[in-house]
Amino acid sequence: MNHMNGRPAPSDALVLFGVTGDLAHKQIFPALYSMVKRGVLTVPVIGVAASPWSIGQLRKRVTDSLRHSGMTINRRTLRVLLSLFQYVSGDYNDPKTFQTLKFALGKSRRPAHYLAIPPALFETVIQGLGDAGLARNARVIVEKPFGRDLASARELNAVARAVFPEDSIFRIDHYLGKEAIMNILYFRFANSFLEPIWNRNYISSVQITLAEEFGVNGRGAFYESAGCLRDVVQNHLFQIVSLLAMEPPAFRGYGAVHTEKAKVLQSMRPLTRRDLIRGQYTGYKREPHVARDSDVETFCAVRLHIDSWRWNGVPWYLRSGKCLPVTATEVMVELKPPPAQLFADSAPLTGPANYFRFHLSPHAAVALAARVKRPGKEFIGDQEELYMCEELLGAEAPYERLLSDAMIGDGALFTREDAVEAAWIAIDPVLRNHRKALPYRCDTWGPKAADSLLGANGTWHNPTESGTSE
Ligand code: BG6
Repeated sequence: MNHMNGRPAPSDALVLFGVTGDLAHKQIFPALYSMVKRGVLTVPVIGVAASPWSIGQLRKRVTDSLRHSGMTINRRTLRVLLSLFQYVSGDYNDPKTFQTLKFALGKSRRPAHYLAIPPALFETVIQGLGDAGLARNARVIVEKPFGRDLASARELNAVARAVFPEDSIFRIDHYLGKEAIMNILYFRFANSFLEPIWNRNYISSVQITLAEEFGVNGRGAFYESAGCLRDVVQNHLFQIVSLLAMEPPAFRGYGAVHTEKAKVLQSMRPLTRRDLIRGQYTGYKREPHVARDSDVETFCAVRLHIDSWRWNGVPWYLRSGKCLPVTATEVMVELKPPPAQLFADSAPLTGPANYFRFHLSPHAAVALAARVKRPGKEFIGDQEELYMCEELLGAEAPYERLLSDAMIGDGALFTREDAVEAAWIAIDPVLRNHRKALPYRCDTWGPKAADSLLGANGTWHNPTESGTSE
C-alpha cells in the first residue's frame, strides 16, 4: 500500500481543494514557499476550486499571499514554487471535476489531498475522490472543525473512513504543530522531577487561557456558525489539556501518545451548563455577516473535570476570547500549599501558591514559581520565578511542519478519530443547552461572571504578551 521499505511512501503530488480561499492565502501558500525553500517540496501542486481562473491568476494569488505574509521572498524560490502549480476548475458535485483532476495528476500515484474547504463540502469531495479512484494510495488532510457536534463528527469520520484508512487521514489542529505545545510533551516526559508531583496530590488546579486582542476580523459568517466553544475549546484547548494530563506513553512512537491523549479526552466529565460562562463582546452584533440578535459566544470560560486516578478532584479552568486585553496563550499549573504553615507568610494566606507556568504564545517559555527567603533575620520571602524562554527564530511554522509531515505519512502531530469524538462527547451537552452570552467590553477579560467558576478564593491568571509574569 502506501509504504516503501516498511516506511510510508512520500506523497508524489499535493492537491489543494479550496485553493482560491482564505486559508490557502493566509497559511498554505507561505507554508509551501518555506517547504520549497527547504527543498522538501518538489512535487506538483494542483489547486482545485470552482472559480474559472487561469493558471496566471492562481500564480498571482500565490505571489500576493507571499507579499502579505511578511516573509522575505527570494525570487528563485518563488519561481520554483510557481512552476509546481497547476489549476483545475470545477464544481465539486460534478464527477467531471475529478476526472480533470485525474488527468492533471498524470503519473502521480500517491497524491495528498488537502481539503481547505468549508466542512459542509468535505463529504462531497471525499466521495468524489473515492468514486474517481483518486483515494487509492492517497492521503487526505482535513482542517478543523471536524464536525460541529458529536453526531456530525461521527458522520464525517464515517464518510472519511469509508474511503480512506485511518492512517491516511490527517486531521489538522495547527496547535499541535507549535513548538511550545510540542514542548509540553517533551518537558513532561524527558524530565524525571515532574512526574512525582504531577497529580492530584500536589496540583490544586490548572488554568489555560487563550486570549486574543482582536475581534472576529471579517470572519463573522464563520463565527456565527462556530462560536468560541467550537472554534478553539473543543480542539486547541482540549489538545493542550490532553498533553498536560496524559499518562506516560507505554512505548516510543506516536501511536502510544495518541492512545494516552485519547484516554484523557475519554475521561473528561461531560460539561453541564453550570460549568460554562459564555460572553459576547460589545459590537459583535454590528460585525458584517453577524445576526443583529446573535447569541453566539466570542468568549467562554469552562470548568472541566478529568475523572481519572491522577486528576480526580483537580479542576481545570479553560478560558478563551476575542477582544481581550492581550494576545497570548498560557497554562498555569497551581501547586498545593505546604501541609504546614511554618512561616507567617507562606501560602495560601498571603500571596499565590507555587506554580508551573507554560507560556505557549506568542513566546515559548516555562517558569516555575517558588518562595525564596528575603535577606535578613525574619523568615519572610517572596515568590520568585525560575524562567526559561526559548527564542524560536528559524523554527518551522505550524502549517509548514504539518504539511510536510502529512506528505511523508507521519501522523504524530495530527488528531485521531477516537480523540476527536471523545472531545465532542465532553462538550456536546452544552453546545445547545447553555445560558445566554453575557456582554463584555473590548479590552476587558470577559464577563465578570467568569470569576464565579473559580470558587470563593480563586482568581484568573492573566497572561502577558511578553511571556513574563507581569
Ligand atoms: C483558529 C481559530 O483555529 O485558531 C481562530 O479559528 C483563532 O479563531 C486561531 O484566532 C488562533 O490560532 P493562533 O495560532 O493564532 O493562536
